[in-house]
Amino acid sequence: MRQSSLVVVANRLPLDDNAAPDGACEWRRSPGGLAGALHAILEQTPATWVGWGGGVGPARDLPDIGTLRLRPVSLSEDELAGYYEGFANSTLWPLYHDAVEQPVFDRGWWETYRTVNRRFAEAAAEVAEPGATVWVQDYHLQLVPQMIRELRPDVRIGFFLHVPFPPPELFMQLPRRIELLRGMLGADLVGFQRPQAAHNVAQLAQKLLGARGADERILLDDRVVLTGAFPVSIDVAEMRSLSARPYVVNQARQLRHDLGAHKRVLLSVDRLDYTKGIEHRLTAYSELIRDGRVKVRDTVMVQVAVPSRERVESYRGLRDRIEREVGRINGEYGRVGEPAIHYLNQPFDRADLAALYQTADVMVVTPLRDGMNLVAKEFVAARREDNGALVLSEFAGAAAELEDAFLVNPHDVDGLKETLLHALAADPDDLATRMKGMRDYITSNDIHAWARAYLTALHESRVPAV
Ligand code: ADP
Ligand code: F6P
Repeated sequence: MRQSSLVVVANRLPLDDNAAPDGACEWRRSPGGLAGALHAILEQTPATWVGWGGGVGPARDLPDIGTLRLRPVSLSEDELAGYYEGFANSTLWPLYHDAVEQPVFDRGWWETYRTVNRRFAEAAAEVAEPGATVWVQDYHLQLVPQMIRELRPDVRIGFFLHVPFPPPELFMQLPRRIELLRGMLGADLVGFQRPQAAHNVAQLAQKLLGARGADERILLDDRVVLTGAFPVSIDVAEMRSLSARPYVVNQARQLRHDLGAHKRVLLSVDRLDYTKGIEHRLTAYSELIRDGRVKVRDTVMVQVAVPSRERVESYRGLRDRIEREVGRINGEYGRVGEPAIHYLNQPFDRADLAALYQTADVMVVTPLRDGMNLVAKEFVAARREDNGALVLSEFAGAAAELEDAFLVNPHDVDGLKETLLHALAADPDDLATRMKGMRDYITSNDIHAWARAYLTALHESRVPAV
């Protein structure tokens, strides 16, 4: 077995098993923030990525991607249901996102979650060379840090949570709260998107595990666990160079023409997820049309919603509701050859996304809760001129960084309507100042800066407990 000095452990491999039209198997980059972010930094670093390849049944061997080795972990049909769709995405995901959808507590899922976490931990322990760094990602694998510590006390263990960590009163609802907290605190460094998360965890560790210490330095048993905020980012240079390619620029021009050259374009790009606030946004937009404050003849909305977790009931229900509402809005307000909303429920490649971002007058990113939201940063990176407005939810981690966006509370539909109008009518000089501010920020806080900051802190961890 080949071993590496850096091992990343994440639920998904950065590639998805995707059936081609002729039935052959082809691989594509997984949608979602985590794979995109880590893919960018690992392509040129000797490392092994342990993760699930997307299908069920025995995992196939996979070729390296540059210097990155892939170590697939298999899932059976039952494990997919209990671990991924069940405990990870029907219990933890809604609970960690402010319970905007009711979390499901199904006692049967826990054992499967634990079994699968152990499989990931064993795979990581196998491919880590002596003294290696093992970096575990996200809520799917919250038990893995402590499991690796037991299997391989010689390695340095990092854990990064890409999603929000909830307030203590919500976390306390979890039937398996002690195991989940202890599992995560098996790491030497636990990273979050926002400082508040580290504070919440320190409080819970005191209450549930009898830990001592402060927010960024938790004393648990005879160890120090460091915690901190490391806001994740994107590969700004990649998005910028993609956006400057002549065929992307031409595609953007063509899209503008197809949408109506004289029209103002509102654009949203999300995974089709109930945390993303798509329904609130559609309500706001349709009311603006209803009230005559926005006219379909001079404004159009584009909603890209990439299919996600489609076997989970709440996601299927959401998709049905959104598609009904888009149909209703177009039926009531559209005209022949002139829909009010273009709805695209399909994955796009990076170049298509770069072109789309360039067509928007207003990018509307209004999640009800989001750990970070990389789409907001991608929009800024893709803009080649100092124009275009970003309407951004206060409840996205990105809002703490992109202060020049038009910030909004998406739960307040009237406030959202006013902010959309404000962004549509903004003065070009104001937009230019805002765009420059956001561009400067992401340029110096890109994905490489994030990885450097996290890995440096991890290498300086393992401090004595005195
Ligand atoms: P999350 O991690 O919850 O999915 P983020 O906004 O952080 O949310 O990341 C979403 C990622 O998925 C972005 O990198 C974005 O470019 C990508 N993405 C969104 N929509 C699509 C799509 N239709 N096709 C391909 N990738 C998409
Ligand atoms: O960022 C949160 C996250 O759950 C990532 O871990 C994941 O890659 C992404 O959203 C997409 O979700 P999924 O892997 O369930 O398709």
